[in-house]
Amino acid sequence: MADAPLMAGKSVLVTGGTSGIGKATAIGLAALGARVGITGRDPARTEAAAAGIRATTGSPAVDAFPADMSVQAGVRRLAAQVLDTYPRLDVLVNNAGGFWAHRHVTADGLEHTFALNHLAPFLLTSLLLDRLTASAPARILNVSSAAHTRGRIDFDDLQGERDYSGQRAYSQSKLANVMFTYELARRLQGTGVTATVLHPGVVRTGFGAEDQAEYLAVVIRVARLFMKTSAQGAATPIYLASSPEVEGITGRYFVNRKPKTSSKASYDTTAAARLWQASIDLAGMTATE
Ligand SMILES: NC(=O)c1ccc[n+]([C@@H]2O[C@H](COP(=O)([O-])OP(=O)(O)OC[C@H]3O[C@@H](n4cnc5c(N)ncnc54)[C@H](OP(=O)(O)O)[C@@H]3O)[C@@H](O)[C@H]2O)c1
Repeated sequence: MADAPLMAGKSVLVTGGTSGIGKATAIGLAALGARVGITGRDPARTEAAAAGIRATTGSPAVDAFPADMSVQAGVRRLAAQVLDTYPRLDVLVNNAGGFWAHRHVTADGLEHTFALNHLAPFLLTSLLLDRLTASAPARILNVSSAAHTRGRIDFDDLQGERDYSGQRAYSQSKLANVMFTYELARRLQGTGVTATVLHPGVVRTGFGAEDQAEYLAVVIRVARLFMKTSAQGAATPIYLASSPEVEGITGRYFVNRKPKTSSKASYDTTAAARLWQASIDLAGMTATE
């Protein structure tokens, strides 16, 4: 008798699954037998992506969860829908994110890069944590970037109000992803839920296209020729979500499916605890969330 697929019986949520690395990750995990939910801002585009993943993999178990995750009410609605739809949640892949060359402000009055890249996964993870814990062993993956090595958490100007640069905001948010993961892993010790963080490589996607820095446009057009495909960029998240080799591994940063040392700043536990509290405050979370 053939072995059951690796992810049979498992439910996975991949944020930002309509394109790029998230969509390729969703395809890989659906192909391994998981029930997969994807998110995206636009209902029609999200449903079309889910239909495409069903067609590519032959798996009917692909669900569309439209949500604008830059808005906290959107994250809260998304969490409620996932909890209603998935009686168990084995893997959460916090992938949705991006780069904006100019400063934008969300409906909550927060700087967009920080709100989407860091606060949204922070809040979503918290809202889904009881379901993940009840489904343990479970895994949380955060898609960061090698750009985190250039990041600094500017506690005096987290929202880039005084001085915004797209590169600085992006690097800060990706450092926040790494610090959040390490702090989460410390807090989840003994629960059977692991937290890992990864750099997917430099990948040819829609990344940064919404608001591209003019000075980078030509460089990016040339560099795209040498970038990884989305499927190649999805190799590490698929590995971390599914492989028995990383069962129980937590609080580590991965590149090309291998654990790697992240930046010195990312291991600062005092700053991580401070960022955690600031994130609770900025996400408007209650004491029980
Ligand atoms: N590409 C790279 O070279 C690279 C390198 C290092 C790290 N990363 C990281 O990889 C992750 C995925 O990026 P990508 O390269 O695959 O980019 P992408 O092709 O632009 O995909 C971004 C995904 O996020 C979703 N998204 C964007 N804004 C959203 C919002 N407000 N609410 C909900 N979903 C939203 C998009 O969906 P809709 O547009 O349909 O809403 C899309 O599915 C990001 O976290 C990025 O920082 C990328």
